[in-house]
Amino acid sequence: MPEYTIETPIEKAFLVAANLRGTHPLLSMSDSLDELEKLAETAGMKVVGSATQTFNRIESSTYIGSGKVEEIKLAIEETEAQVVIFDDELTPRHQRELEKRFGLEIKVLDRSALILDIFAQHARTREGALQVELAQYEYRLPRLTRQWTHLARQAGGGGSRSGNGGVGLRGPGETQLEVDKREIGRKITKLKDDLEHVREHRGRHRLNRKRSGIPVIALVGYTNAGKSTLLNAITDANVYIADQLFATLDPTTRKLDLPSGKNALLTDTVGFIQKLPTTLVAAFRATLEETVEADLLLHVVDISHPNVIEHIEAVEDTLAEIDMPDVPRILVWNKMDQWGSDEMLELPADAHEYVSSVMVSAYRKQNLDILLEKIEDTLSQNYRLVKLLIPFAEGEITSMLFENAVVEAQDASETGMILTVQLTREMYDRFKDYEIVEKKIDV
Ligand code: GTP
Repeated sequence: MPEYTIETPIEKAFLVAANLRGTHPLLSMSDSLDELEKLAETAGMKVVGSATQTFNRIESSTYIGSGKVEEIKLAIEETEAQVVIFDDELTPRHQRELEKRFGLEIKVLDRSALILDIFAQHARTREGALQVELAQYEYRLPRLTRQWTHLARQAGGGGSRSGNGGVGLRGPGETQLEVDKREIGRKITKLKDDLEHVREHRGRHRLNRKRSGIPVIALVGYTNAGKSTLLNAITDANVYIADQLFATLDPTTRKLDLPSGKNALLTDTVGFIQKLPTTLVAAFRATLEETVEADLLLHVVDISHPNVIEHIEAVEDTLAEIDMPDVPRILVWNKMDQWGSDEMLELPADAHEYVSSVMVSAYRKQNLDILLEKIEDTLSQNYRLVKLLIPFAEGEITSMLFENAVVEAQDASETGMILTVQLTREMYDRFKDYEIVEKKIDV
């Protein structure tokens, strides 16, 4: 039987970036616009043109000045764009007014809605999907007015391709049109409840992991820096990799074998980006808790990206926003194969302090041994060497220690195994009752 594929027509998008005079955003307008283009492509659109404006004040009704609105309207007609995407968050009023001015068949989105849409397309676990859905509803609630609903109905509404029950942001779908604020409020409460359940479950997992005392390392980094590629290169993981923004949405944890034979757990996290919608940061706080509980952070950066320093700053800012405790951080300059020099870049004077840095290529597996040594060195500062007596009856503890710690010597006594072993602080707390404390004899 022949196979048929239904091709959805690619939406044509027109981008708009505007800067308020006197403000100093992280990225220049053109760099931010390039990033917005990549986001639009990741969401499956084709960018057909763009416009920029530097203004003295935000227009209360249309965000940008009316001359610019007219100019963009003409450009939309010329390029046959169907969607206009603003690089900054629009208020519900801006969105409504702009849709009125551009024509009801034109959808007006902002960067936040676009990121939410991409997240909705990429969420793979139940928790990820619930978090995005919650963030989408919270983003939508203030925008759900009679007028907006009316406009949306006329615009036809594309709905999202996320398959999460018609809650997509790019042109609301039928179901969304029919729900009123009260219903959305109820949905939000229900989603929060569901998330609470999923989190309790994950919290128990985390607790078990913590109890096991195996160190946890978290990968953080700007979207597309190469975190998943690195996770795959140094573990046996098989994580989805794509040259797209936010290919990895849900945290993935894999076992990492260190050169000494010790183990650690390596967790990939959601990619960061400048101007990440606040509703999303809040929604993903729980996922990022994995990061907060890590013993070591690997901050992966794409050294070949022209905005690498700004990317580092954006990640550091987000980490500060989630109250990241001060655990050691290693800076991993990735994509050295594309860099063409063996010089690492200098960080600005006010940058966060890193215990060490290393240049690697996750893709070509270059310098990964150096990275592993550095991880081991940093973690080893947390270890102590102790002698334990484990009764024969508790053989599972002996096996667990052989599996997850470095046993430097072993001996059998009448009652059990005597192990000389390096333990993390957590493992030491767990097994300290078995420690053989050698008594000093006063002469
Ligand atoms: P998010 O899911 O957006 O957070 O991305 P990520 O940081 O997990 O990046 P990912 O590993 O998905 O890699 C993004 C792109 O960079 C892919 O096309 C990779 O093949 C490519 N890439 C990763 N590491 C390297 C590298 O060392 N060299 C080169 N040339 N490309 C790399």
